[in-house]
Amino acid sequence: MKLILLGAPGAGKGTQAAVISERLNIPQISTGNIIRAALKSGTEMGLKAKSFIDAGKLVPDDVVIGIIKERLSEDDCENGFILDGFPRTIPQAEALDEMGIAIDKVIDIEVDDSVIVNRLSGRRVCEKCGRPYHTESLRPKVDGICDDCTGALIQRKDDHPDTVKARLEIYHTETEPLKGYYEKQGKLTVVEGQSTVDDTTVLVMKALEA
Ligand code: AP5
Repeated sequence: MKLILLGAPGAGKGTQAAVISERLNIPQISTGNIIRAALKSGTEMGLKAKSFIDAGKLVPDDVVIGIIKERLSEDDCENGFILDGFPRTIPQAEALDEMGIAIDKVIDIEVDDSVIVNRLSGRRVCEKCGRPYHTESLRPKVDGICDDCTGALIQRKDDHPDTVKARLEIYHTETEPLKGYYEKQGKLTVVEGQSTVDDTTVLVMKALEA
């Protein structure tokens, strides 16, 4: 199955994508994680993206489209994938269509802006694999250590409240119009994401089975 998860920063895309990836045995492709890994290893693309990501702005379309083209051509994407964080603009969605990739479903996880700031201030992510946790709602088995790969859990720079506000503004102007784009294609399902992680997973899985 070829899936897209839409939603505001902190809506739970990464959390739900990890669950779907495990249940359906398809790779989770997070452009945010790919860019952060490039930044950490100091590649040219990572250095180019740094100022955008730190300020909570979108990385230019051509850079992100290049990343996705390369990643989707890898063998593990043959039987499907979940895109988490891509597309984020109409030109990115158009580029995906132009690549001839037939997306099966688009799930939009809806969460109010007021809930987002609290979620993101408590978020911790694995430095190695990017898996997200939360200081209250989703704690690891051992404090500060990732359950999956034993990497250290850290706080993202762009989870500072001021940067989160900027990310939310960009989400509403640049990314939210994608709902209409995929609704017109008959692929969109909207899922309520305000409740617990497990409740949201139930709704997401139902949407996938529909
Ligand atoms: P990216 O890493 O994609 O960030 P984002 O979209 O802003 O999304 P987040 O990772 O912040 O949130 P999420 O929805 O995955 O939520 P999560 O599951 O972690 O992108 C970062 C940056 O990279 C961008 O700002 C941009 O600069 C650049 N970029 C990436 N892709 C790009 C693109 N396509 N084009 C241009 N630029 C791009 O959950 C959040 C927290 O809440 C966690 O702590 C989690 O444990 C907790 N939580 C989740 N669900 C629940 C729940 N139901 N109840 C309680 N807590 C919950």
